[in-house]
Amino acid sequence: MDDIITVSGLTKDFGDLKAVDNIDLKVRKSDVFGFLGPNGSGKTTTIRMLCGLLTPDSGSGQCLGYDIVKESSEIKKHVGYMPQYFSLYKDLSVIENLRFVAKLYKVENYEDRIKEVMGDFGLTSRMGQIASNLSGGWKQKLTLAACLVHNPALLLLDEPTAGIDPRSRRDFWDIIYDLSKDGLTTLVTTHYMDEAQRCNKLGYISFGKLLIEGTEQKIIDSLDLKTYLVTGNVVDISIELRSVIGIDVVAFGLSLHVSSPYEEKIITALRPYASKKDICISKIDSSIEDAFIYMVGDNND
Ligand SMILES: Nc1ncnc2c1ncn2[C@@H]1O[C@H](COP(=O)(O)OP(=O)(O)OP(=O)(O)O)[C@@H](O)[C@H]1O
Ligand SMILES: [Mg+2]
Repeated sequence: MDDIITVSGLTKDFGDLKAVDNIDLKVRKSDVFGFLGPNGSGKTTTIRMLCGLLTPDSGSGQCLGYDIVKESSEIKKHVGYMPQYFSLYKDLSVIENLRFVAKLYKVENYEDRIKEVMGDFGLTSRMGQIASNLSGGWKQKLTLAACLVHNPALLLLDEPTAGIDPRSRRDFWDIIYDLSKDGLTTLVTTHYMDEAQRCNKLGYISFGKLLIEGTEQKIIDSLDLKTYLVTGNVVDISIELRSVIGIDVVAFGLSLHVSSPYEEKIITALRPYASKKDICISKIDSSIEDAFIYMVGDNND
């Protein structure tokens, strides 16, 4: 089975709010699919529908070959779901939490399996530690370990690296790659662009609608954005450029990215600064962050 997730028309309303609006999604075996979008755009709601925790108002499809509406209990057995907020028992130790999950999923020879995952995640020396006393990075490792105890075929990870330091984030991604090589499929939400670039496919959701989907390069190419890099004394320029209609201006450290599908708009906007000695302007390739900012910007209609 190559298609791990195939859903179409997925929709969920909360009262008057359309939290997820007619989403079609396809995720293939071994994909590391990055699911991105602003706060409140519908990522968590989509994930909860995919793993059978929430029933869609409309839409249909399959996850791991099971019907997302009629066979949600089967899906739950084969999915490792890492919720956005720490969800294990804070008063239980590392090993007690893992035992609890293993029993819940009726894992055979679970003591052996727990030893294995604790070894994989460096948790063995901390097995007696109470979960609430673990640092954020170790809590994240424990949660991921708990997701894997029952050998799921699909991981649904909701902002797994929020608030985690760079070293722990790198370790986390190394684990995800290793699992992907072994055939595990992952759908992961993140707000970090460096993490988006680690995914082999991306989807971008805004106001419940999936605006674009594909590889990083396909998304960048399809928007046909032009981007200019402005470096030097950019503080005042940044304020002035932000008032120009039809271009997006994003600060990257001490430089600016100025993007638009209409190159002449950028050129006109930058012309007053082109001759300034303390300013340097050059055309660059658009990044995925430029693309996403354009998609949710006010300038793209
Ligand atoms: N159970 C609920 N009842 C009512 N409204 C809800 C419920 N769950 C989510 N919402 C609303 O649906 C919208 C989408 O929420 P969701 O949590 O899916 O967004 P998100 O993309 O995961 O956001 P974030 O990046 O902040 O985690 C939001 O406006 C949210 O307030
Ligand atoms: Mg969320």
